[in-house]
Amino acid sequence: MRNYKEDFPLLMNTDLAYLDNAATAQRPQAVLDAVQDFYLKSNANPLRGLYDLAVDATDRYEAARERVRRFINAEKTEEIIFTRNTTESINLVAYSWGLTNLKPGDEILITIAEHHSNMLPWQMAARQTGATLKYLDCDPDGSYPLEHIAEAITPQTKFAAIGHVSNVLGCVNPVEEIIARVHANGGLVLVDAAQSTPHLPVDVQALDADFLAFSGHKVYGPMGIGVLYGKEHLLNEMPPFLSGGEMISYVRRDGAVYAELPHKFEAGTVNAADAVGLSAALDYIEEIGWDAILKREEELTKYAFDCMTAVTGVHILGSADYRQHHGILSFTLDQVHPHDIAAILADDHVAVRAGHHCAQPLLTHLGVRSSARVSLAFYNTEEDIDRFSDSLKSIRRKMGLGE
Ligand code: ALA
Repeated sequence: MRNYKEDFPLLMNTDLAYLDNAATAQRPQAVLDAVQDFYLKSNANPLRGLYDLAVDATDRYEAARERVRRFINAEKTEEIIFTRNTTESINLVAYSWGLTNLKPGDEILITIAEHHSNMLPWQMAARQTGATLKYLDCDPDGSYPLEHIAEAITPQTKFAAIGHVSNVLGCVNPVEEIIARVHANGGLVLVDAAQSTPHLPVDVQALDADFLAFSGHKVYGPMGIGVLYGKEHLLNEMPPFLSGGEMISYVRRDGAVYAELPHKFEAGTVNAADAVGLSAALDYIEEIGWDAILKREEELTKYAFDCMTAVTGVHILGSADYRQHHGILSFTLDQVHPHDIAAILADDHVAVRAGHHCAQPLLTHLGVRSSARVSLAFYNTEEDIDRFSDSLKSIRRKMGLGE
């Protein structure tokens, strides 16, 4: 089998078992090369200059937009807005669409499992417009019974913002079902795809998502580049989120005419080099292929799940079926604080995240204050998981709690 780690210089130059991929993934050499190549050969401010270098910078930036369009199967490049990350993409929709369209009596629906980045913007929008923010609670395994979905969605549901894959439980949420029901009631849906785009093919047209957000750094691309997809007619009707340079077509003393999509939403100098890096990351994913990624991540998830359930005192949050976890295994260990778990693992050169994972209401709902989290990528190996598992087995002994 191909050793994917060979494509990732950082992984080849460390003895760390890197199991914190849901926080950020590593970048393959192809992405590092693409970013450097932009600065070496094409660096000028895109969308402005008429000289060849600036035209090249613009062409490479716009080619990256087309690459992203293909990755999520959007109909048009005008529907792809570059942002800094998922958080900024969701804030753009909450401020621009939310503050313009929501009013008292309207309901915004989110799940209790949302990342704070898909929760706080909607708390803000509800506070500022008088709309009501409703939470759909999950069962302990992370699932949402159909009857709860049916009850939660009403003609007042003007907007729903739903995570595609939970960053704590790893489960795929029933976004198709929610989108169909919200649309039937005349509302719109944003899909937070930050944790699904690294693990599953995502097709905005098949989902019929109105908006979809994801981050470059979780799909093996650079930090500081993110994507907002929006249906063209919705984006056209929305006011700009940020204003300033290059998002206008004409400015007078008393106002301005804004640029056409997508530039209306890209104020200031854009992050072209990282857009080019993201494009290289998406090429890399395509080269590996979704079949290989899905198969490898399922094997690794099963292997890790079996290792963890064999350790006394370990409790995995969410489903008891490893196939529902998509590489994300959050867990507690009896009588040991998750920060102690992560610190002992770190001493053994194993990287995991511990805490509330920016999903505090979910953890409260599940009755835990915090957890440790293993998150896998296709480049991890059974050896990484063995090192994690050996260290995990030693924790209770090291803390004087028995075997
Ligand atoms: N959202 C990222 C995580 O869940 C940072 O770790």
